[in-house]
Amino acid sequence: MEPYLQEFHPPARLLLGPGPSNVSPRVLQAMTAPVLGYLDPHFARVMDDIRAMLRLVFQTGNRLTLPVSGTGSAGMEAALGNVLEPGDTLVVGVNGFFGERLTQIGERCGARVVQVQAPWGRPLDPEAVAAELRKNKRVKAVAVVHAETSTGVLNPVQEVARVAREHDALTIVDAVTSLGGIEVAVDQWGVDVSFSCSQKCLGCPPGLAPITLGPRAEEVLGQRKTPPHSWYLDLNLTQRYWSQNLSYHHTPPTSMLYGLREGLRAILEEGLQARFRRHWRNGAALHAGLEALGLGLFAQQGYRLPVLTSVRIPDGLNDDKVRSALLNEYNIEIGRGQGAMAGKIWRIGLMGENSRPSAVFSLLSALEQVLPREGFEVAKGESVAAAQRVLAEGDGSVAK
Ligand SMILES: Cc1ncc(COP(=O)(O)O)c(C=O)c1O
Repeated sequence: MEPYLQEFHPPARLLLGPGPSNVSPRVLQAMTAPVLGYLDPHFARVMDDIRAMLRLVFQTGNRLTLPVSGTGSAGMEAALGNVLEPGDTLVVGVNGFFGERLTQIGERCGARVVQVQAPWGRPLDPEAVAAELRKNKRVKAVAVVHAETSTGVLNPVQEVARVAREHDALTIVDAVTSLGGIEVAVDQWGVDVSFSCSQKCLGCPPGLAPITLGPRAEEVLGQRKTPPHSWYLDLNLTQRYWSQNLSYHHTPPTSMLYGLREGLRAILEEGLQARFRRHWRNGAALHAGLEALGLGLFAQQGYRLPVLTSVRIPDGLNDDKVRSALLNEYNIEIGRGQGAMAGKIWRIGLMGENSRPSAVFSLLSALEQVLPREGFEVAKGESVAAAQRVLAEGDGSVAK
């Protein structure tokens, strides 16, 4: 039989890379429900539920809150493409791969992009953002990545938003790796636009990009001189379907939305604060375990994400061989370095379902087996013990 005529049975991987993360059976189950028409009143309820739950997860009262059809990058394009018009000035914080992507998309929107850089592995400096805002008159928006997935750094978004507001600029926050795993308090922090993805800490498959826009951003949308370049991502059009009158814009990805509804339900059942504590605690256990293996963490201490940990690859170790051994022998996926960090770091995700002690122990035990084979000696049993100690002590209030 031709291979393509055979059924496909993916292996049961533990996805500890930068995303996608494993999806819980309850979300997968929800996605098998019968497809409904997009004007069906029962489907309208699904949409209402999603919008209500997204507001809770983004911690916002923003009216314009919905899932964009597309992955996190579609959320990024929607955020920048709706706010920016040709000739606008955008200040972008860049300390990794996704800050560069914000820059590229901003430029494609015709904006003049001013970068505020920090070295990869270090956080952005809100003072440096303030300096650019003083230098450049009439900045339309400041865009910043909350959790920089390429380096494992947590950026000080709250401080950046405060500085932007002082200069009357909007704040656009990429919460692709943070939403549902660490706190994203849109209203309290004064964030005007934020977007995320379904496949990381929200615990769903890839394909949706939740987005929220506050009143100041909505005002900017209403005052545009030109329509956004992308018809598909024009939020003025999509929100008409998502608001009460359900006028057709594009066919919503029904099964994906069923999955997102269930993923959000699981998050709210757990409770946001409990969920954040769980992520911080398991992240701290992983950090301790990796250090006990003799590996160095790449991100600056005090700014390390619990959901994505970057680890320096020791000199002489073969990046591909270690990752392949983990995948083929232990069914564990970890991520490779991106851009400038390719071959220099590994990226380990503990997101949503996968932020749990058993995932931490599995990975550490597998590394204890694989690393010495590749020439890097480790003290056997130490890493799991170090992680266990953190979990035993931890009440979840691990210092950020
Ligand atoms: C911080 C950040 N922003 C944007 C994206 C792009 O999202 P996607 O790959 O879902 O399009 C990613 C993906 O990993 C990311 O980590």
